[in-house]
Amino acid sequence: MPTQILSLNHISAGVAGKNILRNVTIRVAPGEVHAVMGPNGSGKSTLASVTMGSPVYALSADRSGISIGKAELTGLPAEERARRGLFLAFQSPAAVPGVSVMQLLRAAYQELHSTGMTDGTGNGVQNPVLSRRWKAADTSLVEFSEAVRDQARALDIDEALLNRGINDGFSGGERKKMEILQALVLKPKFAIFDEIDTGLDVDALRIVAAGIRTLRRRGTGCIIITHYLRILRYIRPDRVHVIVGGRLIRSGGWQLARQIEKRGYADLTDR
Ligand SMILES: Nc1ncnc2c1ncn2[C@@H]1O[C@H](COP(=O)(O)OP(=O)(O)OP(=O)(O)O)[C@@H](O)[C@H]1O
Ligand SMILES: [Mg+2]
Repeated sequence: MPTQILSLNHISAGVAGKNILRNVTIRVAPGEVHAVMGPNGSGKSTLASVTMGSPVYALSADRSGISIGKAELTGLPAEERARRGLFLAFQSPAAVPGVSVMQLLRAAYQELHSTGMTDGTGNGVQNPVLSRRWKAADTSLVEFSEAVRDQARALDIDEALLNRGINDGFSGGERKKMEILQALVLKPKFAIFDEIDTGLDVDALRIVAAGIRTLRRRGTGCIIITHYLRILRYIRPDRVHVIVGGRLIRSGGWQLARQIEKRGYADLTDR
């Protein structure tokens, strides 16, 4: 099978009357980690949202497109992109009181790994959170729940959090770890982490970095949006991309992140 590359091709995007991204191209192979850096407001989160299919942003019609291997994702809604193997951890993950982390993970896993069976009653349960019948073919509900608890333990996540409303009263660090837990459990082909390292204490940072290394080892391609060299020291990304003013102004090895840490962005933009 040919290598399935995540391609963000010539991405130009904006909101009504405002261009945010201009001709950004990034290609990530399975098992690669790419870092995206850039000043505040340069368009990094917008790139993540556009990749996931946010309806807020308009993609310029000409050459802009997103694909995994030969499969075109441009124009598909976010849930369909998730089904095709894309995962996005938001910069500020939203709280969803009333749906627990465990419920969300069970529902999402079934959506991604089901055999396409309905609930068998003929009245097609539409809401996967409420659906009682476990649809995933590759594991039982009991095994799945145990695997989630094991994974949570490895990330030093308090088991009680799994049964609380998603991010409902979670600390900043707990929210970030929860995003890594979701990626590890859902096993996406490609994952984008938007400032997953912001606000983490040193121990949590190490744990989160180890989580990303695990994903990489299993073949998930990752894009890490970050302001800091700190997390990159633990991960040693394959590529570093710098976005300034909506343009990709430089791509290079991870020493580029070292240079930015030392001298800021002015050095890169002055030339
Ligand atoms: N929905 C929107 N409506 C209007 N402007 C927007 C919208 N989304 C993003 N922008 C603008 O686009 C620019 C890029 O925003 P974005 O969130 O992508 O930046 P960023 O690189 O992620 O910044 P940070 O490092 O601060 O997170 C900003 O000027 C922002 O105000
Ligand atoms: Mg951002």
